[in-house]
Amino acid sequence: MFRIRTMNKISPLGLELFPRDAYEVASEIPHPDAILVRSADLHSIEIPDSVLAIARAGAGVNNIPVTQCSDRGVVVFNTPGGNANAVKELALASMLIASRDIVGGINWAASIAGRADEVPDLVEKEKSKFEGPELRGKTLGVVGLGAIGVMVANDAVALGLDVIGYDPYISVDAAWNLSREVERADTLEGLLAKADYITLHIPLSDTTKGLLNAEKFRFMKKDARVINLARGGLVNEADIIEALVSEKLGAYVTDFPSAELLACKKVICVPHLGASTPEAEDNCAVMAVKQLMDFLETGGVRNSVNFPRCKLDQRAPFRLLAANRNVPNMVGQITTILAGANINITDLINHHRDEYAYNIIDTEQQIPDSVLDRIRQVEGIIRVRSIQKI
Ligand SMILES: NC(=O)c1ccc[n+]([C@@H]2O[C@H](COP(=O)([O-])OP(=O)(O)OC[C@H]3O[C@@H](n4cnc5c(N)ncnc54)[C@H](O)[C@@H]3O)[C@@H](O)[C@H]2O)c1
Repeated sequence: MFRIRTMNKISPLGLELFPRDAYEVASEIPHPDAILVRSADLHSIEIPDSVLAIARAGAGVNNIPVTQCSDRGVVVFNTPGGNANAVKELALASMLIASRDIVGGINWAASIAGRADEVPDLVEKEKSKFEGPELRGKTLGVVGLGAIGVMVANDAVALGLDVIGYDPYISVDAAWNLSREVERADTLEGLLAKADYITLHIPLSDTTKGLLNAEKFRFMKKDARVINLARGGLVNEADIIEALVSEKLGAYVTDFPSAELLACKKVICVPHLGASTPEAEDNCAVMAVKQLMDFLETGGVRNSVNFPRCKLDQRAPFRLLAANRNVPNMVGQITTILAGANINITDLINHHRDEYAYNIIDTEQQIPDSVLDRIRQVEGIIRVRSIQKI
């Protein structure tokens, strides 16, 4: 029986995936095998020694002490892409509200609610104030072609936009999923010079902080519309406000309001709604639960933030799972101990990521506790467990 402690309300669509006869799932389990969490702060609790894995139903892992977990061999999972469709839909809406002044128009229409019979005439007289361009035939520049960027680019193609993408680190999976209609930009500046709409879908880091700033706005078309649903810090706020006020840019839609941005009429502030759909919550919960079950039952690691991706089809009845520091001769030492105990290895995989490595070793014989203990004593080994094929 595996025991899962839930630290937040998790979508039932995810929880229902745990088979009742093999999993105990509750918020009050003292010595769980795994923790399922959304936003609860795990920095402030003692993570029990029994915990093998923590899965966050969401993308960021700031609420989890990842370094401490790595040192203890606790695998931390997140659910990248689980909210991609939710963000994509908001990006498409952002392009539309940055074109015609839909928000201003709706607010104005609400303001004439008490004008009774005058309303139809007023609407016809004032509507031109809110007009704006169509999307079809315009050029969209997508910066970052990951889970969200690829979806935005593909749907923008379907809406009749010409789409250019920029991502020097695009993954093979993303490249496979990207429409062939999307033109590749070799430089960010090349994309910025051509685009009528620019949408950012990249992580915030030391290198991307303030990526769009006064210097970049010089390359951009007058009236270009910038959409930032990724992270506020990617755009220099003072610079974009200046560019909008001096009419060097058309509009800025952001999911990250600040007092300064709210004070600027040409900024459309959305209250961080990117991932706020019930479907995104469901998707993240389902992904988190599937990843946890796979890890507990087979030792497979997928979408971990601290250990390498590692999967092996299990053909033999027994399996050894070992996390270790990424130093030489670890596999050699483990296999020597197994050979010394007359245990036949049928399959083995070892992957490393930064300072850590992970091994899946399939064997024909069950590995006795005494042998597991000897492996645990090897310097550099962090965690060892054995499982039997279900
Ligand atoms: N508004 C919200 O609620 C919300 C929700 C989810 C994600 N996000 C944000 O959206 C971002 C993108 O999410 P995702 O799921 O698509 O991430 P992802 O990891 O799948 O994709 C990010 C892509 O950006 C690329 N990239 C990194 N640095 C780059 C650079 N300097 N120039 C161009 N491309 C670069 C990477 O190669 C990768 O392909 C996240 O980092 C997150 O900050 C916001």
